[in-house]
Amino acid sequence: MSDNPSVTAYKKHVFVCTGPRCAPEEGSRLYKRFKERLKELGLHEGPDRIARSQAHCFGICKGGPLAVVYPEGVWYHHLTDELMDRVIEEHLRQGKPVEEGVFHVQDSE
Ligand code: FES
Repeated sequence: MSDNPSVTAYKKHVFVCTGPRCAPEEGSRLYKRFKERLKELGLHEGPDRIARSQAHCFGICKGGPLAVVYPEGVWYHHLTDELMDRVIEEHLRQGKPVEEGVFHVQDSE
């Protein structure tokens, strides 16, 4: 039997900053709510699974709560419940980033 770790396939991976210099309480609350919403919507498992992680700090420390969606490298700032719900529906489900909340898109080149 292998001791190698394994990963269940996922469609996208979202990191939310819960670090001390952005908006730690709000970031933690939003991360918890995000996990609950993914579960409610059935996006926590199966072929459309969205992996999620909390990050201690992205080294940006401004405009939080911050989140980034991979593989696109789309960065969101000033997350709210409303923006997060739109990100889930429009970006994670339909593949269209919510432009109003985006402050950076990583070039893939
Ligand atoms: S504490 Fe959030 S980016 Fe640094």
